[in-house]
Amino acid sequence: MTPGARPAGGPGGATETGAIRATGLAVDFPLRRGGRLLALDQLNLEIAGGEIVALIGPNGSGKSTLLRAIAGLLPPLRGTVELDGVPITGPDPRIGLVFQEPRLLPWRTAAENICYPLELAGWDAERRRRRLAELLDLVRLDPSAVGSRPFELSGGTSQRVALARALALQPEVLLLDEPFSQLDALTRERFDLELLALWERSATTTVLVTHNIAEAILVADRVIVLSARPGRVVADIPVDLPRPRTLASLEDAFVTRAAREIRAWLGESSGEASAEAAVPDATVADTTVAGAA
Ligand SMILES: Nc1ncnc2c1ncn2[C@@H]1O[C@H](COP(=O)(O)OP(=O)(O)O)[C@@H](O)[C@H]1O
Ligand SMILES: [Mg+2]
Repeated sequence: MTPGARPAGGPGGATETGAIRATGLAVDFPLRRGGRLLALDQLNLEIAGGEIVALIGPNGSGKSTLLRAIAGLLPPLRGTVELDGVPITGPDPRIGLVFQEPRLLPWRTAAENICYPLELAGWDAERRRRRLAELLDLVRLDPSAVGSRPFELSGGTSQRVALARALALQPEVLLLDEPFSQLDALTRERFDLELLALWERSATTTVLVTHNIAEAILVADRVIVLSARPGRVVADIPVDLPRPRTLASLEDAFVTRAAREIRAWLGESSGEASAEAAVPDATVADTTVAGAA
């Protein structure tokens, strides 16, 4: 199988690996002033292999906590998180994570950042070089940027580097924590479409945390809404839009209904709707194609 090729199943169809299941999940944190803060509780969630879901919820509802628990970075207080039926007990190369800020190593070039997981995994230089070329193509990173250090890169390019690094070892699961929220609106739309294209070509189960309802609907098979803290799943809204999707997909009458439903759940789950949720989502109606390349 060529890297990035999708095994049987196809977009939206189940693949054999990369299934996530959280059961009765609770995660808490110690507080400096004593006591503990319950971030997630009684959270149940099933994501099929190869599915792409969006995770949306009020600020502090535990979205990042959930991703970190899935990534094996936080041990559950109660319950389990399983990957392909086996509990996740620590960081796992089958799971890639991208954060809101690229978190690149500042002293390494873009290429060295992308290849870092390959080095840790003991890949020799020639194999790393070949994989780097594939990854640049996969995330559409301009090869002229690979010798630059993070401070020389734009926000969008840095995020491409972070994405390439997360994909380096061909994870079964890609966790994206508001990865495009610091990009301007047009760049963000382009990234949404590229994420879709990447997902169409790869076998990767994808969980995208976003505050943007239009973004959630555009990319996802399902939009999962979390309650206010402690977070649990309060709504699971299927997005029945045909694929491949384009920005024109957002003109479908279904989108208005789905957006309204998501917004209602957000308003309900946060008591008072969070700022992002309350603001009418201009991009739902705005279907301008991001022309800038
Ligand atoms: N390391 C930590 N220590 C203490 N509290 C934390 C820690 N990480 C997150 N929290 C708290 O857990 C709750 C959920 O946080 P988070 O998962 O970041 O929410 P979201 O990503 O939905 O905004 C918040 O109240 C946050 O302050
Ligand atoms: Mg967060």
